[in-house]
Amino acid sequence: MLAIAVEATRSRGEALDHVLLYGPPGLGKTTMALVLAEELGVRCRITSAPALERPRDIVGLLVNLEPRDVLFIDEIHRLNRVAEELLYPAMEDGRLDLTVGKGSTARTRSLPLPPFTLVGATTRAGALSSPLRDRFGLVQRLEFYGLADLEAIVRRAAGLLELELEPDAALEVARRCRGTPRIANRLLRRVRDVASVQGHGRVSAALVRQALQLHRVDARGLDAHDRRLLTLMQQGFGGGPVGLDTLAAGLGEDPVTLETVVEPYLLQQGLLQRTPRGRVLTDAGRAHLAASQP
Ligand SMILES: Nc1ncnc2c1ncn2[C@@H]1O[C@H](COP(=O)(O)OP(=O)(O)OP(=O)(O)O)[C@@H](O)[C@H]1O
Ligand SMILES: [Mg+2]
Repeated sequence: MLAIAVEATRSRGEALDHVLLYGPPGLGKTTMALVLAEELGVRCRITSAPALERPRDIVGLLVNLEPRDVLFIDEIHRLNRVAEELLYPAMEDGRLDLTVGKGSTARTRSLPLPPFTLVGATTRAGALSSPLRDRFGLVQRLEFYGLADLEAIVRRAAGLLELELEPDAALEVARRCRGTPRIANRLLRRVRDVASVQGHGRVSAALVRQALQLHRVDARGLDAHDRRLLTLMQQGFGGGPVGLDTLAAGLGEDPVTLETVVEPYLLQQGLLQRTPRGRVLTDAGRAHLAASQP
């Protein structure tokens, strides 16, 4: 979807429509913004909502944009109201509405802006206000990667780390990275640690398994924290249904993190289910717990 939009705007010489990227952390939202700018042949300005606390922060960015630039705002669900209201006319009409003066002498001045592309990233699309969400012409959900893509990502990252992998070792890492490129990179560095301590040149699948067991990453990529959630559901609540807040309290975790960081992969893997009455451990979830008991 994005590829077509990029191609079309490039051939028309226009700015790409505003893009909202959402999905769990580490799937490449920031990378995607950089790639978009590169493909469009424009600069990418990078910031994040918590850095735009004062009105002049966002005004400064907007007035310095060049035509067709990409402005990337990470964690866009955390924008404050004033910043959001400055963005509305900027996104929709290419204009910045500034209030000059105070009290009864206050006036609004409008400044024209060059056409630009706002790329917003969030792990919580649902936390965006609807006026803001509605101003994005392109909304892209980033999904967990499949095995073949992950394997290619692992091979490339290994090359960058100058780590030599046996053919089935890359797949072994790919299986254990929760469908997430950032985790693939992290696991690969842990594998490299073990390989260098043991003085191995080429990394085998067995070495990958050994290294990742050390870090308590299981055959499906679940870490100790993921398994604690599943175990709590089974042992504390008979498999559910149990509410998110109850689970969060039981784990000493913030419910938003549980919902946006921990849960999505477990849902995608079919280990958990969301129902109107709460979360339910599936048969696959029980089977996985049974199989991964030490
Ligand atoms: N398609 C990909 N191929 C190879 N590496 C990738 C890919 N996507 C992301 N990465 C790598 O994964 C890591 C995480 O990517 P990135 O920072 O873009 O994720 P993110 O979605 O912005 O995460 P967060 O939501 O936590 O900010 C980076 O090191 C990046 O190089
Ligand atoms: Mg990022």
